[in-house]
Amino acid sequence: MNIVFAASECVPFSKTGGLADVVGALPHALASLGHQVTVYLPKYKQTRISESHVALRSITVPFDDQYRFCSVIDGGKRSGVQFYFIDYPQFFDRDSLYGTPAGDYPDNAERFALYSRAVIEASKILGVPDIFHCHDWQSALVPILLRTSYADDPVFQSTATVFTIHNMGYQGLFPPDTLPLIMLPWDLFTMDKMEFWGKVNFLKGALVFSDHITTVSRKYAQEIQTAEFGFGLEGVLKARAANVSGILNGVDYKEWNPESDRLIVRQYSAVQIEGKRECKYDLLRQFGIEDRKNVELPVIGIVSRFAAQKGFDLIAEIADDLAQLPVVLTILGSGDKEYQDLFLKLNREYPEKFALKVAYDNVLAHKIEAGADMFLMPSRYEPSGLNQMYSLKYGTVPIVRATGGLDDSIESWNPVTGKGTGFKFSGYSGSALLTAINEALNAFFKEKQSWKTLMLNGMRKDFSWTVSAREYVKIYERLVPPKPAAPTEKVLELSRA
Ligand code: ADP
Ligand code: GLC
Repeated sequence: MNIVFAASECVPFSKTGGLADVVGALPHALASLGHQVTVYLPKYKQTRISESHVALRSITVPFDDQYRFCSVIDGGKRSGVQFYFIDYPQFFDRDSLYGTPAGDYPDNAERFALYSRAVIEASKILGVPDIFHCHDWQSALVPILLRTSYADDPVFQSTATVFTIHNMGYQGLFPPDTLPLIMLPWDLFTMDKMEFWGKVNFLKGALVFSDHITTVSRKYAQEIQTAEFGFGLEGVLKARAANVSGILNGVDYKEWNPESDRLIVRQYSAVQIEGKRECKYDLLRQFGIEDRKNVELPVIGIVSRFAAQKGFDLIAEIADDLAQLPVVLTILGSGDKEYQDLFLKLNREYPEKFALKVAYDNVLAHKIEAGADMFLMPSRYEPSGLNQMYSLKYGTVPIVRATGGLDDSIESWNPVTGKGTGFKFSGYSGSALLTAINEALNAFFKEKQSWKTLMLNGMRKDFSWTVSAREYVKIYERLVPPKPAAPTEKVLELSRA
């Protein structure tokens, strides 16, 4: 099967969050199952491509006032996956992907409309896929255009579209006059298509026009059909429930595995776990808090975008209690000023308890996964979440709120049966979080052997991408049934006989 991925970020070329990890790994898993996969990405300032050449010098993208001309760079093949980059410096050669701390770039609708149209036009020349697999609002115009402006294009008559929701919290909402600007017809501006409380909603359009919708865990697939998690689009999703599936993200164990991780001071495994202690010391040293007493205390790690989704207001609620507990937090994150200020304040008040680095730092993210004893994700909602699954592999016990992919990937620890991989709490409250942390600390201090069992349970879990990739293939094949294989010579001979 021939599959084109359209997404706005992908490791190692561009990243703000888990979407990049998924787009960096799933295509390879699909390719190793024998499929032909091409990934189209915007070429940002941060995108580094070696040995590239121009595949298409000029693609014409119409806007209401002028034509815009972008080129397509051939990024070559990596582990069987073809990469192309849409190059339009005026839109993408900027310091960030989507905006500055002050807010989103004001021309995001045009930026990603140009990107989506360029993907469709480039595919006509570089290879028409069986499936366009699009991700989040930035590529939402692909399924929308394919079923509207491109409905009569003979080239795409047997191409199907799959759209994956990575986060309902980001929908691509723009004022109505965006429509003519990006050359979309006004008849899309109705309640059953892209109109949403007087605005144009890119995500809504993709939910209406895609042949199949997926999201990144089973639980989140159910949650988003309710008012609590649907961000106003629960009705649209309910109406399409027969075409909505949840497939949990996987882990790229080439990147996230303590046995082979070159970013940590000492590699270790479930069989030889001693190296983790050295990683813990190194982690504390990174934060300048490596004195003896801290080495004996349990360390809770956090690596996160600072956003309302992540539940950090619960930490604010219990900060004074946390400060009294025998524990150290090492926190790495960047994003919304509100949460940045919160952690800076906690760090000022309790420097030994709330160690903080405000940054985007991949090396430190690996060191936290390896060096911490526990990993905290108190998310308000979490479509899939990746760090809790990375944590399992590193023997770093997750403490999570039972929502979305966190609930699907973590099993509560039961000290009696010795089963389970972490600690979960349900209610969205500081006290529920505090209870879970206390439970984890009690288990940590109580008995070394049973804590080790808990760590090993997690380290032995397998969330590799192949399983999820097979689920996606089932969906693709339902939409575009595989063509019967051409008869082999032997079969032909037999039929002639
Ligand atoms: P989300 O996509 O909502 O941010 P995920 O758990 O799916 O959440 O993925 C987050 C990814 O981004 C992980 O790979 C994580 O290590 C990485 N990440 C998040 N914040 C930072 C940061 N400040 N520095 C380095 N990596 C980060
Ligand atoms: C989103 C979600 C996160 C998910 C990631 C990749 O940003 O917040 O839960 O893991 O996308 O699918």
